Order: sequence, then structure tokens, then C-alpha cells
Amino acid sequence: MCGIVGYLGSSSAQPVLFDLLKRLEYRGYDSAGIAIMNESINVFKTKGSVDDLISVTPDLKGCSGIGHTRWATHGKASSENAHPHCCDTDKIAVVHNGIIENYIELREKLINSGHEFRSETDTEVLPHLIEEHYNNDLESTVRHALSMVRGSYALAAISSNDPDKIVVARKDSPLVLGLGETDFFIASDVSGILKYTKNVIFLNDGEIAVISHDGVKITTLSGKTVDKNIETIEWDAKSAEKSGYAHFMLKEIFEQPNVIRETFSGRMSSEGVNLEVAVPDARRIIITACGTSYHAGLFGRYVIERFARIPVNVEIASEFRYINPIVDSNDLVIAITQSGETADTFAAVREVNLEKSQKFSIVNVPGSSITRESNNIFTRAGPEIGVAATKSFTSQLAVLLLLAVQLGRVRKKMSTACVNDFVYELKQISGKIQQVLNEAHHTKECAQVFADSDQFLFMGRGANYPIALEGALKLKEISYIKAEGFPAGELKHGPLALIYDGIPVVAIATEGVAYEKMLGNIKEIKARGAIVIGIANESDTEIKKYVDRVLRIPDANPWISPLLSSVVLQLFAYYVADCRGCEIDKPRNLAKSVTVE
Ligand code: F6R
Repeated sequence: MCGIVGYLGSSSAQPVLFDLLKRLEYRGYDSAGIAIMNESINVFKTKGSVDDLISVTPDLKGCSGIGHTRWATHGKASSENAHPHCCDTDKIAVVHNGIIENYIELREKLINSGHEFRSETDTEVLPHLIEEHYNNDLESTVRHALSMVRGSYALAAISSNDPDKIVVARKDSPLVLGLGETDFFIASDVSGILKYTKNVIFLNDGEIAVISHDGVKITTLSGKTVDKNIETIEWDAKSAEKSGYAHFMLKEIFEQPNVIRETFSGRMSSEGVNLEVAVPDARRIIITACGTSYHAGLFGRYVIERFARIPVNVEIASEFRYINPIVDSNDLVIAITQSGETADTFAAVREVNLEKSQKFSIVNVPGSSITRESNNIFTRAGPEIGVAATKSFTSQLAVLLLLAVQLGRVRKKMSTACVNDFVYELKQISGKIQQVLNEAHHTKECAQVFADSDQFLFMGRGANYPIALEGALKLKEISYIKAEGFPAGELKHGPLALIYDGIPVVAIATEGVAYEKMLGNIKEIKARGAIVIGIANESDTEIKKYVDRVLRIPDANPWISPLLSSVVLQLFAYYVADCRGCEIDKPRNLAKSVTVE
């Protein structure tokens, strides 16, 4: 949430900053701004998108600057509240992602000392605080100012009194530095800078970096020098481009055959499954995550309990600490997160630190905050730019299947023959996802028929229940249609009251133990007027008798078919939203990577 960027080098800063901002726009898109250092600091900002910013900014000279794309927390979306924020003399400019918790108290003190504020944001206290304590050295003044601040920040500051430097700092919000030959880049996440360099330094909490033409110097808040590793990001820069697709979401849906191949690569052999981390044996597993990743966690429960016979609890990360969880060293806590930055998931992982239980994370973004708090299994989905998670979800499901098999084997709950059969099935998934994508026009045609509906229900049983929840989430977040997912067995306990003549219901009715029960549920809702779109296997000849429309997936093992149904539901949500003319990659009020609680 919110993207901060910066550049210092030998080229003109303005086009680089605009480009970096466009690449990070998925982190927030209600306002944007840049500050470029020439002899003085030139600031341009506006409500709206980065394109709006580009259209109001004249050509600016200067080879260093900072920029910001905002997702509003404190203060409405407006050009006044857009970053960068400046001090009274406009000699200091700051961009910030995070929340300054004690800003009211700081603001009052600064106003009493004569500072005049121009915005409603918490961030604006930072340039004023730096101005108030300025000691002719930007780095040490930023350090001093931060000692007075409570909260979270990834920030970049420039000063026309110290024009050849950018000072950046991090606490509980992501920040990465990119190192080119003679150019330096700052971004909230790696996908922003991949086009320019793959050599990066991830800043840790409590570190300050000074970027100048001589290089990067990193110290702790207390002034100790820190030696950092330069890491190389293996992601292909092209994977963060739209590559001719209308939207990142569609591109990422279509990437899934390759993504799943990559997720499995080197992790399956004739001996079964070999995840790179030694997964500790546990009396109980607790999975914690938010949103789509939480739905993956619910699926994880079904497969781990089935194959490894370990009890699994799945907890929404934002509630985890309020449960006051009872975890001990016999428990294994698994965080699932695409970004590795979700504040609530991160907080849950830290909560576990206190409890000393075992833990690891299933995560997509290398170098992200969570990866530094635990052992990790990477989903290897590559950069996911679409705000609606798609390929990260199926890659999480794929990792959970691998994990379930590995645990099942180690705990001797699966025979070698059983593991081999299942591994064989896993190897077919990519090809089957490709088959689903080849038939995308059927889903598109069906989506167009229902695109005007104002409500949808999704239902599934067993491992398809989390997929029904995910199908509903995908639809509501990008098309703004009211959509609920529920376990079909719960119908009679309440949701049946929602059925009226003509309501569309998506029923996942793929082969498996609950298939006949699903048909029974479909009958119940049809009898009450619902129009049912069934997701069914290719060889199912019965289903047509029960539903109004069928979306087919290839025949597959019932533990694997949820991945295929997920792809159909992603396509369905995409085409409905497209038909309604929604801004698919920039859904209303949402942004990727929720770094505030
Ligand atoms: C929905 C979506 C969100 C995320 C959630 C967790 O499409 O993307 O619900 O799944 O914000 O994000 P991560 O997985 O980055 O922790």
C-alpha cells in the first residue's frame, strides 16, 4: 500500500521516476507526486493516477528525485494530501509509506513552534520535524527526527541544502535499493526496479541508507555501520510487463501453466516430494493468512489432514493475536502470503516468535519482510502486479499439495505407491490448466450472459469450499457485485433464504466424495428459482440434467481439480468485470500489499 520510489544517477530523473511509479501503481492509485532536485526542489503532485501526474508536470531538469503513489489512510485523496510533503521553506521533501502513530502530538508541537501544515496527513510531520532539527547534515537530522517518531515507515527524504543525497529509512514497511552501474534506485518492492537492475539491497527495520554518487552507505538508527549483502533477483524483468494483454490480471491468469511448472520444478522426484526446507514434524499445524492466501490456507487444511493426518487450524491473520493463540513448541505455524509484507500476517508471525513454536512461511516475493523472520517455501509465481491475486493463489495451492504429500510420506501415512500415483497426477496439472485456458472463450461467453446480475452465490463442498470462497472474492473485488461463497451443506442453515427467482449460483460439482450431495444441493436451489452455473468434469454426462450452464474442467484427481476450478472462476470474474467496464487492475478502494493493519 502506497509505493515510494527514488532515483539518483547520471540520467534525467523525471522519466525514471514516472516509470518507477507506473510500475508500483498497483500499491495505490488515488494520488501521485514527484520531487526533483535541481538547484531547488521542484514538487508536482495531483489527485488521480500516475498518468494524471504526468499530464500536469512540465519538463524538469535534475538527476535525482523521489516519488510516491498513494493509497489514502490519513486524509482524503487530494493533491494537498498527495506526497511528497515539504517543510515550510520547501527545502526538504519526504515521501513515506506507513503510519506515524504519534503524529497528532508531533504536529501540535511543530505548530506551536511556528510550522504551517498544508495537508491532513500523518506524513507531513516528517519534513517539518527534519526542518525543525536541521543541523546541516540530512542523514543525522533524519536519524534524530526518527528517534521522535512512533509507527511504521519506509521513507525517502531530500534537501536542497544537501542536494547530492537521498536519505532513506525503514521500519515495518518494505524498502529495497537497486544498484546500477552509476545509478541508484529506491522502491517499495523489487518488481518496480527489475527493468533497471537485478542487484538489490533489502533494507532491514531500523536501518538508514544514504545514497549519493559515491554509492550507498547503510547504518542503524543508532549510527552503527551495517555491511549488507547485494542480492540478485532471478525474476525476469519481462514478467512485470503486461506483454500485450489488456490487463495484468488476464496475463497472470494465462501464466499459470508455466507458474505451476516452476512451482514444482526440482521438488518432485521418483522418491516423492522434496521441499527445500526440512518441514518439522508437529502435533498440530496452525495456518495464518489474509484474503486469498487465507483461502489457500483453508484448502491446505483439507489436504494436510487428508494426506498427513495432522490436525490443522486455519486462522485469519488479522484476528490471530486477538484469539490469544495457545501455541507451543509442538505446534508448527505456517504463514501464507504472496507479498510477504501483509502487516497482519507479519504481526502474526511475530506473535509466534514470542511463543517459541516452530514456523515457516509460504511466500512469493523474495527478500520480503516475512522471509526474514522464518524459513520459507517460495511459490515461485514471479511478480504479481494485478491487485486481484490469481497465479499466486494456484501456486500456493500447489505448494500445499506438495507439503501435504511430503508430510504424509515422512509420517508414513502414504505408501510409496500412493505417493508415486499422486506425484504423477501433480505433474499433469500444468497441462490441464492449459486446457482450461484453451477453453476460456466458453467462460467468457457465460460471464457475458450474467454480467448484469447484481448478486451471485458460490458453493462447494470439501476442498472445493475454499475455492467457492475465492471465486466469490475474485468477483466482488473486481466487479463490485455482491458475491458470497459458502459450503453447500450449510444451505439449509440459512443461505437458502437468499435464493430467489433468477439469482445466479455457481456450484462447483466436480468428481469427488461429495459429488452426489452437491447434486442434491443444486436441486434444492433450482427448486427455488436459482439459475445454476455448474463447474464439472469433462466426462460428467449427468450434470447437464441439473444445471442451466456447465463450465468444464478436464478430468482430474479430486484433490487436484480445485486448481482447475480456480482458474475457471478467475476467468469468470475477469470477464464479468471486463463486460461491466471495471478498472480490473485498479479495483475501487483496494491496493496490493496491505502494509497497514
Ligand atoms: C485478493 C487479494 C488479497 C490478498 C491479501 C493477502 O485478490 O489479493 O485478499 O490475498 O491481501 O495478501 P498476501 O497474500 O500478499 O499476504
